[in-house]
Amino acid sequence: MDIAVIGSNMVDLISYIDNMPKEGETLEAPDFEIGCGGKGANQAVAAAKMGSDVMMVTKVGDDLFADNTIQNLESYGIDTEYTHKVPGTSSGVAPIFVDPESQNRILIIKGANQYLSPEDVDLAAEKLKQCSLIVLQLEIPLQTIYRAIEFGNEHGIPVILNPAPASKDLDFSYVCKCDFFIPNESELEILTGMPVKTEEQIKAAASTLINKGVKDVIVTMGSRGVMWVTKEDVQMVNSHKVSAIDTTGAGDAFTGCFAHYLAKDGDVSHAIKMATAFAALSVTKRGTQASYPSLDEVEQLVAMRA
Ligand code: RIB
Repeated sequence: MDIAVIGSNMVDLISYIDNMPKEGETLEAPDFEIGCGGKGANQAVAAAKMGSDVMMVTKVGDDLFADNTIQNLESYGIDTEYTHKVPGTSSGVAPIFVDPESQNRILIIKGANQYLSPEDVDLAAEKLKQCSLIVLQLEIPLQTIYRAIEFGNEHGIPVILNPAPASKDLDFSYVCKCDFFIPNESELEILTGMPVKTEEQIKAAASTLINKGVKDVIVTMGSRGVMWVTKEDVQMVNSHKVSAIDTTGAGDAFTGCFAHYLAKDGDVSHAIKMATAFAALSVTKRGTQASYPSLDEVEQLVAMRA
C-alpha cells in the first residue's frame, strides 16, 4: 500500500448559480449536479488516479448514499476495508454553490465523518503500517487527526496535513510533527491571523509557521500558483493558464496528486510541478472528483510547459 488517507467523504450537492438569493428571496439557478466528494475522498481519488495504491479510513452513514460512496471509492481501486458504516447516522453531505466566475461556496454537514475516532486509526494499524505516506485534512475530529499524526511518527511514516477547512482549534504542536503542511491562502490567513493579499504577505505568514517549528509549508494560491516555504528557501511555481469552470476540489486535487508523487520518489519539487498541473486541469471541468484528469492529460500539460 502506498498511501493512507484518513479523512472525510461527502456527497456533493452542487448548484450552479447566477446569484445567491437574499434573505426571504427565491431564485432560479440554471443547473445542479450530484457527485462524490469530501476532502479526504477527493484526495484519495486524485492519488489513485495517478496510480498510487490507496487505502481510505473513513465513515459513511447508513443511508442511501453510503453504498454509492463505497462503490465509488472501489471503482478507483481504493481499499475500503476500513470504510465503515455508522448505524442511525446520515452520510456527510456538502451543499455547494458555484457562481459564474467559477468560484465556490461550500457548506459541510459532517454526518458520519464526525464519528471517525482515534480508535479507528488503531483498528486499521496493521494495514496502515504498510503505507509509505499518511494524508490528513480537517473534516474529521481533531483528536483523530492527532492520533493519526502520532501513529505516523511512531512508525516512521511521513504525514501530510491539509488544514481544510481551517480550524483555529488546531494544535500546532501536532502540526509540527507533520512533514508537509498544505494550506490555501485563506486557511493560512485564518491559522496565522496575518494578511495574505500579496505574495510578500503570504511568504511572511508561512514563515511564521516555519518559525514555530512547522516543516515544509506549501501554500496553494489558485491561479497565482504555489509557494513552497522551508527554513532555507522559498520557491514559487506558477499555475497553468486554463479556462476555469468550477474550482471546487482543486485544493484536494493538488494534495492528492502531490501525495502520489511524493510517495513515489520523495522528489518534492517534481511533486509540486505535477500537482499544479493536475489541479489546473481539475478546474476546467465541473464537479470535484468528476473533474479530475487522467495521468496522460497531466503529463501532456506538463510537457507543454517544458
Ligand atoms: O474541497 C472540496 C470538498 O469540500 C467538496 O468535495 C466538499 O465535499 C467539501 O468537503
